Amino acid sequence: MTRILRAAVLGTGAVAHLHAEALAAIDGVTAVASADPSEERVRDFNARHGIAAGYGTLEELLAKEAVDVVHICTPPAGHAEQTKAAFDAGAHVIAEKPPALSLAEVDAMQSDAVAADRKLAVVFQQRTGTAAAHIRNLLQSGELGRPLTAVCHTHWYRGPEYFDVPWRGTWETEGGGTTLSHGIHQIDLLAYLLGEWSSVSGQLFRLDRELETEDTSCGVVVFECGAVASVLSTVLAPRESSLIRIDTEHATIELEHLYGHNHASWKLTPARHISAERSASWALPSNEVPSGHDALLSEVYESLLAGADVPPVAADPARAIEIVAALYASAGRGAPVTRGELAAPDFRGSMRAPVTDLRPGR
Ligand SMILES: NC(=O)c1ccc[n+]([C@@H]2O[C@H](COP(=O)([O-])OP(=O)(O)OC[C@H]3O[C@@H](n4cnc5c(N)ncnc54)[C@H](O)[C@@H]3O)[C@@H](O)[C@H]2O)c1
Repeated sequence: MTRILRAAVLGTGAVAHLHAEALAAIDGVTAVASADPSEERVRDFNARHGIAAGYGTLEELLAKEAVDVVHICTPPAGHAEQTKAAFDAGAHVIAEKPPALSLAEVDAMQSDAVAADRKLAVVFQQRTGTAAAHIRNLLQSGELGRPLTAVCHTHWYRGPEYFDVPWRGTWETEGGGTTLSHGIHQIDLLAYLLGEWSSVSGQLFRLDRELETEDTSCGVVVFECGAVASVLSTVLAPRESSLIRIDTEHATIELEHLYGHNHASWKLTPARHISAERSASWALPSNEVPSGHDALLSEVYESLLAGADVPPVAADPARAIEIVAALYASAGRGAPVTRGELAAPDFRGSMRAPVTDLRPGR
């Protein structure tokens, strides 16, 4: 008989709907329960997605339901504790980005997974889709030559009202500003494509919004492969776009999209010395799958049902948050931070860092 995994969704706000919609399309899993302190949100969420049971807290849910997987869709301040509770109840965890508010919490989540012999999958859905997989293979195989320079820009727009939600805009509850909450998606994809980083420098700015954290940041990330990337994150861009460009010895890779990409979002330009025959072999595959929660969750469930490791699209929860933490740490010290230095306890707690306030009259 085919095994059916029982999933629960914790937090029934904006992103939880993407999880419930994806779950409905995956064979071998049923969403059986949700929990949120807002009774009204749980009721509406369950009615919309055909979920039978609703609770006010995770503790109540875990006490009443036998669940195999908990989807953590709550504000990031609770992720580490909720992950531990789910593992203690014997469930696997799929946690929304950012996985937690500090590297110490991510360390704890990873060691709790090992101790409980459960899987921890993290949602950075920009890694998914057939185009990203194809480009990553071309880079990893060496076919495109050495990656040299990169641009990773998150030009998003969030009006002042976006920060009315109480957990946004403070170091205590959001953990960081736009770099941690928004830029991290493209930073994660860049690192998924280029591999391990070696040093980061950066600065944080408050240019317009009334926040404690940054509304804009600029950084430089040096990767172990030798590539140097310029990384900008902002919530002040009237024309929104998410950009990645990588120039290698043999090609220019460009990605422009907003919150998700498909094949049309990518462009691969061969260098002049590359033959037409060789560049033709770089063409994207014909079986197009766009990036998104659907693609990520279906790969994760495939691995859970097979008892396999978390697939690369949802593994390595620390990689992107390390780059963000290093950028914040660099803003604090006014000099680059290396990956080795980030292991020091000083950098693994709060990411609170100085923000240069350039708003008129401040
Ligand atoms: N991957 C993506 O593209 C993406 C997009 C948006 C948000 N996110 C991430 O998803 C998470 C949630 O963001 P959101 O925009 O959905 O936030 P939201 O504020 O819309 O929803 C969060 C929900 O969690 C509930 N909640 C708070 N504490 C809880 C608790 N202890 N137990 C149960 N429920 C609790 C709130 O009542 C709310 O309904 C964040 O980590 C965010 O960064 C990811």
